[in-house]
Amino acid sequence: MSQPLPEPSTSELLAGFEVVVGRPGAWESEAPHHLPGSDALVPTPRERVTEALLALAPRLKVVANCAVGTDNVDLDACRRRGVVVTNTPGVLTEATADLTWLLILAVTRRFREGDALIRSGSWDGWKPLELLGTSLDGRTLGVYGMGRIGKAVARRAEAFGMRVVGTVEGDPPEAFERLLAESDVLTIHAPLTPATRGRFGAPELARMKEGAVLVNTARGPVVDEPSLASALASGHLGGAGLDVFEKEPAVHPGLLGLPNVVLLPHLGSATTESRLGMARTACEEAARVLRGEEPRNRVA
Ligand code: GLV
Repeated sequence: MSQPLPEPSTSELLAGFEVVVGRPGAWESEAPHHLPGSDALVPTPRERVTEALLALAPRLKVVANCAVGTDNVDLDACRRRGVVVTNTPGVLTEATADLTWLLILAVTRRFREGDALIRSGSWDGWKPLELLGTSLDGRTLGVYGMGRIGKAVARRAEAFGMRVVGTVEGDPPEAFERLLAESDVLTIHAPLTPATRGRFGAPELARMKEGAVLVNTARGPVVDEPSLASALASGHLGGAGLDVFEKEPAVHPGLLGLPNVVLLPHLGSATTESRLGMARTACEEAARVLRGEEPRNRVA
């Protein structure tokens, strides 16, 4: 285990196995010590599982990623070495969709500025023109990546009176252009792959509607962060809600000072229920492969 996970997970599902638990942030220094003797590895999105690290792990049979995204794992290198890779779909879908809506609402209703006004002690009462946001009713929500999470976000849009346009992998280019052109709020739910890396760069952001809001609870590198900071600073985009960043834990400095940007530290799946579900799924998958059974959520 690269880091401690919510319990009961290892204690129940890996009972009978020797479990070694790493410390958050210590992966680079700890992995070379632990990998040579490991039969299974349970990393989180924070730890990169590279070809060089796999070369240190001759016994490794399974990488049971404690996440739905697997961009932290070199899948081809695992395939070449016959190492199974699994993920944790399903258990975090609703939590991530909820957090997406938290960001949409926080940006469009200027949550940060309102909260700051109260705490500053300078709020002197209700004003007709104070901190006006944008109504969502009748607007268009664009969903880039209509998979499990994208669809859960789209379902919630009905309750807010929003029209939804979405794209899936393999759509013709016109679908992406329509998403850019029509979305008042555009939310990203595609996995990070070579095809989606940098998909929202300066030219794409420029083709978005004036005043549109961009939300990302998927993976930071899908968006070119410096270009996003420029599009916000120029006023072309109306705001952004970001739970993920290009070079976590770093955040582009141009995003930090903007009042219309809400930033969260990769909390999409961070409910007690979802994180326990992820931990239990990952432990179960590791145990299944070590027992010689077929895992339920195999990605490589
Ligand atoms: C978290 O980011 C995940 O991919 O599950």
